[in-house]
Amino acid sequence: MQKPIIYSGMQATGNLHIGNWLGAARNWAKLSSDYNCLFCVVDLHSLTVRQDPKVLRQSARNVLAWYIALGLDPAKNILYFQSHVAAHAELAWILNCYSYMGELGRMTQFKEKSAKSEENINAGLFTYPVLQAADILLYRTNLVPVGDDQRQHLELTRDVAQRFNQVYGDIFTVPEAYIPPVGARIMALQNPEKKMSKSDDNQANCIFLSDEPGVIIKKFKRAVTDSDNQIRHAPDKPGISNLLTIYSCVTGRTMDEGVGDFSQSGYGDFKVKVGEAVLEALIPYRAEFERLITDTAYLDGVIADGADKAQAMATSTLIKVKEAVGLPICIKEGVSYERS
Ligand code: TYM
Repeated sequence: MQKPIIYSGMQATGNLHIGNWLGAARNWAKLSSDYNCLFCVVDLHSLTVRQDPKVLRQSARNVLAWYIALGLDPAKNILYFQSHVAAHAELAWILNCYSYMGELGRMTQFKEKSAKSEENINAGLFTYPVLQAADILLYRTNLVPVGDDQRQHLELTRDVAQRFNQVYGDIFTVPEAYIPPVGARIMALQNPEKKMSKSDDNQANCIFLSDEPGVIIKKFKRAVTDSDNQIRHAPDKPGISNLLTIYSCVTGRTMDEGVGDFSQSGYGDFKVKVGEAVLEALIPYRAEFERLITDTAYLDGVIADGADKAQAMATSTLIKVKEAVGLPICIKEGVSYERS
């Protein structure tokens, strides 16, 4: 029997941080043996913000190398760049015509990002979730493992898929989100009321996977705690709870065990130990990333192979969609599609 399909992705910009790892990639690796998986570097999505072309190209490659380093074997998973499969942009256009201004305007990420860059509220920022819906729906995805901040985009994807299916029949699989019970929202170290984000102006809020060991420990030492001295996981202790969550994710200890591990510790000692646990967990991944990123021929092969495989899957869905909405079909050689 065919395994169900997992699809997920990360933006191509900047360095990955521990939120991307603990909220998303870690679960991709855990789930991947029970599913057929596609993991995309969503480089088209990154164009909603002005990019230096050279930097974008290199960081897209870095993200793909991190996917492999974090445990996603290209022989078992399809790893590819979004811009290598033209069907994403084509389906996004079609789905734009089935999405409403009102629902896109309600997206929290759109509201936050447009407030942040008032001088550049481009149309791409607004229709961003439609492209994300196209990514997911092209591959008849069953499950989308993401962090908590993507919940609303997933809801929109489901709404658009259902709306389309109501008109045209069973074209799209309606996907479910997988949001992990622990680690779905890693918070900023110096402001645990907001999520850790790579675009944060204060870099001390964010632990990047490629930060030097000394920098990682320093950032943890400076993490905000509170004025009492109790190490417990509770809503009134966002800083401590965030550190306990990170500790639990990287060590595999439950929250109770984590609290027990620090029953004798003060905050200073606790913060250093969490930093050390993160470093220890990261060491093998960082070494693997360093090795991979210099292996140009291998990465090029993975990228070309991923594009071919993703393309084949995406094309068959896109043809179904085009036929459903009434676009004239051009059957090209090599495209196999059974008419219904
Ligand atoms: P992006 O690149 O912002 O983040 C990639 C993944 O990391 C998760 N994440 C976090 N998890 C926990 N704590 C955090 N502080 C944190 N920050 C980020 C995100 O939830 C995400 O799972 N729109 C998406 C990319 C995308 C996508 C898709 C995802 C485009 N198309 C299709 C899934 C399926 C984004 O900007 O993720």
